[in-house]
Amino acid sequence: MADLDDVREGKDFGLDQPVEVKAFPVRGSVSLDWGMQDRLARIFQPKSGHTVMLAFDHGYFQGPATGLERLDLTIRPLVPYTDVLMCTRGGLRQTMPADSRKPVVLRCSGGMSVLTELSRELVAVDIEDAIRLNASAITTNVYVGAEYEHQSLANLVKLIDTGNRYGIPTMAVTGVGKDMARDARYFGLATRICAELGAHIVKSYYIDNGFEKVVAGCPVPIVIAGGKKLPERDALEMAWRAIDQGAAGVDMGRNIFQSDCPVAMISAVRAVVHDGESVDKAYEIYKAGKAKAA
Ligand code: R5P
Repeated sequence: MADLDDVREGKDFGLDQPVEVKAFPVRGSVSLDWGMQDRLARIFQPKSGHTVMLAFDHGYFQGPATGLERLDLTIRPLVPYTDVLMCTRGGLRQTMPADSRKPVVLRCSGGMSVLTELSRELVAVDIEDAIRLNASAITTNVYVGAEYEHQSLANLVKLIDTGNRYGIPTMAVTGVGKDMARDARYFGLATRICAELGAHIVKSYYIDNGFEKVVAGCPVPIVIAGGKKLPERDALEMAWRAIDQGAAGVDMGRNIFQSDCPVAMISAVRAVVHDGESVDKAYEIYKAGKAKAA
């Protein structure tokens, strides 16, 4: 039976204060449902509004690539330093601790390999399994202009519609086929298509000319992939430029886990993405971290 003793009538309704309506700070997300906003707020950090995702999903089409031979040895030590784990369900279940409290952006496509046509993907995770894994977002690649463009866009639409049903945001990854131009026109087209189809986050590549226009033309947050391994200072400079031109963060893999000191590198990336540090300062952070680890 409910305890009805000492039920006190409410007295303080703050009648002298208007009810505060706070705008949700993630671009393009102000009208989303509470659960969707809650998941996005786990991904984008409240102080900076940015995110550092650690991408280690490459095995889903590349197998045990350099730096990902043993996720338990190479990636697990980086977990405390990242905001988000971006990975496959296999990599997550088999090697990641479930008590890290890091949100997961779950790779939900697959079905091809480096030996076949990359754009020929299928949705490879059921939404029920994404929920079971407590995914904060789900993700698939789109290959605009590629042989299987239509199929990859259909996969994105399917993820968005099923994710929407359960309040789970979708990140679209703009995959680039071998023959495609990596320029502002291409990424402007690809990122905008993803956002118009309903993606909540779009992952793109940084480009030297016109990246700010790509960001401006995309009504949801853009995070950049790191791409192939660069010297650490160059990778930090790329991250700095991307943030300076409006990116909401990075979803970086090889430039972190293939670094000669991954912990130092991800710490330096965080300094750029979250603290607005200069490239010189971030590179100092990397070198100091590396010296400490030696
Ligand atoms: C590519 O399809 C995967 O999503 C990768 O996780 C992504 O490209 C980011 O990794 P990287 O920084 O190594 O390019």
